[in-house]
Amino acid sequence: MAKFFKALVLLCAVVSLTLGQKSAPYLFSGHHKVVNFTQQYSMEMFYNKENGEDWLYFTLLFEYPLPTYQQDLWLGVGFGKTTMDSADIVICRFQTNQALCTDRHNGRFPVTPVLDEKNDILRFRSEAVYDQFVVMGFKRKVITNDTENDYQFQLGNKTDLIWAYGQANSTTGEIIKHVEYGVTSITLPKAATSFSKTAIFAACVMSVLTFTLT
Ligand SMILES: *[C@@H]1O[C@H](CO)[C@@H](O)[C@H](O)[C@H]1NC(C)=O
Ligand SMILES: *[C@@H]1O[C@H](CO)[C@@H](O)[C@H](O)[C@H]1NC(C)=O
Ligand SMILES: *[C@@H]1O[C@H](CO)[C@@H](O)[C@H](O)[C@H]1NC(C)=O
Ligand SMILES: *[C@@H]1O[C@H](CO)[C@@H](O)[C@H](O)[C@H]1NC(C)=O
Repeated sequence: MAKFFKALVLLCAVVSLTLGQKSAPYLFSGHHKVVNFTQQYSMEMFYNKENGEDWLYFTLLFEYPLPTYQQDLWLGVGFGKTTMDSADIVICRFQTNQALCTDRHNGRFPVTPVLDEKNDILRFRSEAVYDQFVVMGFKRKVITNDTENDYQFQLGNKTDLIWAYGQANSTTGEIIKHVEYGVTSITLPKAATSFSKTAIFAACVMSVLTFTLT
């Protein structure tokens, strides 16, 4: 009997450590979303929980045929608005062979979006096979607390999106007015459903006992 309890505790410890909180954000699906802006330009969204914090990963993808100015192509996306007016915007372009994604916002009028004072985005992937596709990925916390310049996402809710792409000045890198733009919306990935290690341990013990003692 003591052996049985030892085995039970060991088993449930392993289960709860494996499935508990940070390590198991994916107990339910729905963490991945795709939105096609045009036939060539699309965005993928992926949710992840890291050290108890909610992150969204964004991949901007532009596919063949790339415009003639492919080396100076910039890709943009804005959150929570249907116009550029006061929008939270991220603009990505390639610089020294790596995606440089910048956290920006727009003023009251549609001018070139300016850099946020507090940067809340990080690059996580960049690939360019010119003539074929360009991929630029950035990640951001769902809640940045920069309520003035960043849209604070509500996981699972619908969010308006604006998108644009265009040509940057090849000499200065300056973003020049978009070539094409549009408005759409996306239902954000759902928050992770995670349970504490203690809760999983208790549930494990209960179910094994119920199963073996009845
Ligand atoms: C987006 O476009 C791709 C490729 O054309 C297609 O397979 C996919 O179903 C589209 N997704 C949505 C959400 O429209
Ligand atoms: C935002 O504020 C909350 C509450 O003060 C804090 O727990 C969280 O770490 C902050 N997040 C960021 C990205 O600063
Ligand atoms: C998110 O969706 C819920 C349920 O539809 C709604 O009650 C809530 O107001 C929404 N939040 C925002 C910020 O739109
Ligand atoms: C790029 O910037 C340079 C320097 O300011 C300027 O001379 C040139 O006309 C600009 N090119 C375009 C396409 O805007």
